[in-house]
Amino acid sequence: MKKDYKLPSLNEARKRDKEVSDKVTFFLDEQYKGLGEGKKYHIITHGCQANQRDSETMAGLLEGMGYSPADDEKDADVILINTCAVRQGAEEKVLGEVGALKRLKTLNPDLIIGLGGCMAQEEESVKTIMEKYRQVDIIFGTHNITSLPKLLYEVISTKQRKIEVFSKMGEIIESVPVTRFMTHKAWVNIMYGCNKFCSYCIVPYTRGKERSRYKEDIIYEVEQLVKDGYKEICLLGQNVNAYGKDLGINYTFGNLLNDVAKTGIRRIRFMTSHPWDFDDTMIDAIRNNPNIMPYIHLPIQSGNTQILKKMNRRYSREEYFALFDKLKKQLPGFAFTTDIIVGFPNESDEAFEDTLSAVDHCQYDNSFTFIYSKREGTPAAMMEDDVDRKTKEERLQRLNEKVAYYANLNNQRFKDQIVEVLVDGFSKRNSKVYSGYTPENKLVNFTGEGISTGDIVKVKITEVMSFSLNGELVKE
Ligand code: SAH
Ligand code: SF4
Ligand code: F3S
Repeated sequence: MKKDYKLPSLNEARKRDKEVSDKVTFFLDEQYKGLGEGKKYHIITHGCQANQRDSETMAGLLEGMGYSPADDEKDADVILINTCAVRQGAEEKVLGEVGALKRLKTLNPDLIIGLGGCMAQEEESVKTIMEKYRQVDIIFGTHNITSLPKLLYEVISTKQRKIEVFSKMGEIIESVPVTRFMTHKAWVNIMYGCNKFCSYCIVPYTRGKERSRYKEDIIYEVEQLVKDGYKEICLLGQNVNAYGKDLGINYTFGNLLNDVAKTGIRRIRFMTSHPWDFDDTMIDAIRNNPNIMPYIHLPIQSGNTQILKKMNRRYSREEYFALFDKLKKQLPGFAFTTDIIVGFPNESDEAFEDTLSAVDHCQYDNSFTFIYSKREGTPAAMMEDDVDRKTKEERLQRLNEKVAYYANLNNQRFKDQIVEVLVDGFSKRNSKVYSGYTPENKLVNFTGEGISTGDIVKVKITEVMSFSLNGELVKE
């Protein structure tokens, strides 16, 4: 079948240069304003915080065009799915969802379905969607979010499917409208892309090269958030420690943390720190600014040096421990979490035991654990995926038991203590119970009265579980 569209190319997306990325200022073209008047949109978001923040940009663009939000996809004129490609499971979920949307499209032929995010950057996924999921009208890549108004306009006026996915290194686009989904916590991008090329990971191909926003733009954004009453920000990047390096300036993530702290925002978090580049300026900034929260996510991925080497993680087991032990010592009372992959190609029983013993060493507050998933186009996809499914599952199970053990052990220190909680609203499970997070990023469910989302309240912890705490509001 002849293709009349251009597929993205993971090969192209692999390229990196040393140039500072262009900074572009966005304007919403007058011709697109009003196009969505009286119409509604609904966005479904998968994947990491970068995608959450991108969905807020999509919402901002759509609202700029006059669309208003629909809580239910059934009421929407435009449905966007912001996808994740990090593991096979994430992709299968999206395809299932797109399949189910076909029914809505039959009921309403004018419904526009758009698919964006990391799957849109993969040639195979785009091919599958173009050929088998005809209900999708727009495919737009992670570098093409600001083209959404144009793409929608074209689909409405020509009734043709549109695809725009650039496999480029990427630029920095400022002044894009945003509709934030929360009123008390905000995601703040500090950099885009990733240059680390861990051998299993698709992200450097779907997100382009590491490019930092200018510090003035970041600080201005945080100052506005403070004015708007936001209590917490999370500084986002695939590897925040590398902030500023691509700009060729003598200003690092540690410097940025100090400057962001000066804005007076109550709570600062950041995600994600690669163990590489975790320097002393960063540690000092974290220790010296009380509004930087006592929580560090430091992915280890494996506890075995050979596997780490094959993963291209750039540190050995011992180097990770040296950094971890230093952080633990210099940052007392902090909570530490990690990411771990089991069943990477050639992971022997001994190598897996090294991962278990690394968890014993670090005694994490929590870990996000994953079974290795082969991603076409990455170097690891060329290695034989030789650990069988059953072994992978058994390893995950054993690992998760250990993770839960230490999570519970770490939480014991909060029993009968009074903690500070930033309230998110009612708990997901029980509308009589509130929930929120402590500075250490512990989920607290608690009872009380006269509480609103965004309040910072004191809670006495009455019960401790592995992955959450229960408590009662302390009246002041
Ligand atoms: N930039 C972040 C993580 C991004 S992806 C970092 O480096 O820490 C989040 C997590 O997904 C990774 O830390 C890793 O544990 C997991 N992951 C990434 N690719 C994977 C794959 N192919 N299979 C299984 N897990 C994967
Ligand atoms: Fe993926 Fe590694 Fe980059 Fe994280 S640092 S996004 S795991 S390549
Ligand atoms: Fe997924 Fe893309 Fe984030 S692959 S984890 S949504 S960067």
